Parts: sequence; C-alpha cells; structure tokens
Amino acid sequence: MFDGAISEEIKMEEGPNRVRTGIPGFDELCGGGLIRDRTYLVSGTSGAGKTNFSIQFIYNGITKYGENGIIVATEERPEQIRENVLKFGWNLEELEDENKLAIIDACSTKIGIPSQEKYVDIRPFDIRSLMDQIITTQEEINARRALVDSTTSISFYLQDQAKIRVELLKLSTTLEVIGLTSMMTCEVIDESMPSRFGVENFVTDGTIVLYYKRHENVRMRSMEIYKMRGSDHSKKIHPYEITPDGFVIHPHEEVYSTV
Ligand SMILES: Nc1ncnc2c1ncn2[C@@H]1O[C@H](COP(=O)(O)OP(=O)(O)O)[C@@H](O)[C@H]1O
Ligand SMILES: [Mg+2]
Repeated sequence: MFDGAISEEIKMEEGPNRVRTGIPGFDELCGGGLIRDRTYLVSGTSGAGKTNFSIQFIYNGITKYGENGIIVATEERPEQIRENVLKFGWNLEELEDENKLAIIDACSTKIGIPSQEKYVDIRPFDIRSLMDQIITTQEEINARRALVDSTTSISFYLQDQAKIRVELLKLSTTLEVIGLTSMMTCEVIDESMPSRFGVENFVTDGTIVLYYKRHENVRMRSMEIYKMRGSDHSKKIHPYEITPDGFVIHPHEEVYSTV
C-alpha cells in the first residue's frame, strides 16, 4: 500500500511570503507553506476531515505564528465547532475571548434559529453582505487567516454554475485583497472530482483534496495537493491520520493504490 522513500525534490522557501500551516507533514509538501494572501480549496467527501484540517490551519496560525483568524461557519453552528475541536485540545473560546479569533455564524439564520453569537451573518447567502461582515471583522481583530466552511451550501443556494463561479471569485479575491490567507472547503460526492460544481477549483489558487477511501475492509485517509499556483508541490498522494492532536500527514510515504 505504501511506498517507502519518496523521490520528489521540492524546493523549500522561507520568508514572509510563505504561510506555514503548522500541520505536521504538510508544509514540506508545498515548498514550506501556502503562499501569503492566496485562497485555497480544501475538498473531500463528507467526513473526510475538511473542517478539522482547515481549523487546524486557523488554530496554529493564532497559537504558533501570531496570525489571528476568522472562521465563517455556514454548515455547523459555532457552538458545535467549538465542541468538536475541543477533542483535539483546541480551545477556540479562549482565543475568541482574547480577540484573536472570530467565528461568524452564517448557519443559524439559514436554518431559522436565533443566534447568541457575537458575529452573525444575517443574510447568509448574500455574498456582498458576507464580504462586508468579513471586512469589518478583519479590521476588528486584525486577522491574517480565514476559513469559509463551506462553499457548498453557498453554491447550492446560487445553483447556477456561472453565478457560483462569479460569486466565489468575488469572495476569494476579496479575502486576498484585504490580506487574508484563506481556506475554503468544498464537499464532493465523487472523489475523482476536485469540486462539487466544477468551478470552485478555478477561483482558488490551490486545491487540496482529502480522500477517505475504502481498501478491502478498511477506510484509508490520504491527501493530495491537486494544484498550487506559483509554487512547487508534491504530485503524490500521501497518507494522513487524524490523531488526538489533530492531523498528521506522512510526507515521505506514498499511497499508490487507492482502489
Ligand atoms: N478526536 C478524533 N480522533 C480521530 N478522528 C476524529 C476525531 N474527531 C473526528 N475525527 C474524524 O474526523 C471526521 C470528521 O472530520 P470533519 O473535518 O468534520 O469532516 P468534513 O468536514 O470533511 O465532513 C470524523 O468522521 C472522524 O472520522
Ligand atoms: Mg465539515
């Protein structure tokens, strides 16, 4: 299943242009980290680990690199998110109290329940109002990283493929222009497709795909950097684990059979 040594030579870059995710094993797969002020798509099937992976990027940003973060939650209520990631020892509430993290609740209004959150997107499917909310929040907490989890519910609302492309492009460009390095998640049904509506990966600078595939009687987790504009990156599929401390990627191992 796994190959031994990996033969790729990926040129590592240091400096302020690289944003380290701090996710064990990941940064060395893409030359030392993500490129600053760019937007990346994290795609995968339900349960693949998209939310946890991208929250680890935000959490590490604050706790390891002093870069504050914004999480836009469209699918899970902030309360659920806080509770879920506490299992990894990530105390989001503490960071929110210190004004290092803001979670924008773009979920409650959508499903018609009241929200007690500090940051609420009252019109969750209006990209313009969401962008305004992000801009205000970014100024308030001086954020450098953001997560939009997920683009799929926004896209379902917009329905039309051309509209999805334009609106998500507006969103990703706004995030970049205001100085945020961001991840946007995308839920796929078919793992051979990097996005749900076939356009999300066109409006982002990179695509990270998380696989959760069945092999005989077990499911295996693996990931691939499908695209990363402006950077050298691994072209292989690497196994990862979700441990009690979060994601651990094995950059020197390769999955060559995903049947
Ligand atoms: N503490 C944990 N230890 C190991 N695996 C976990 C833990 N918590 C969650 N998981 C795994 O993470 C999966 C959910 O990850 P999540 O990021 O919410 O997926 P997605 O956003 O892609 O739907 C769960 O199905 C479970 O397999
Ligand atoms: Mg999720």
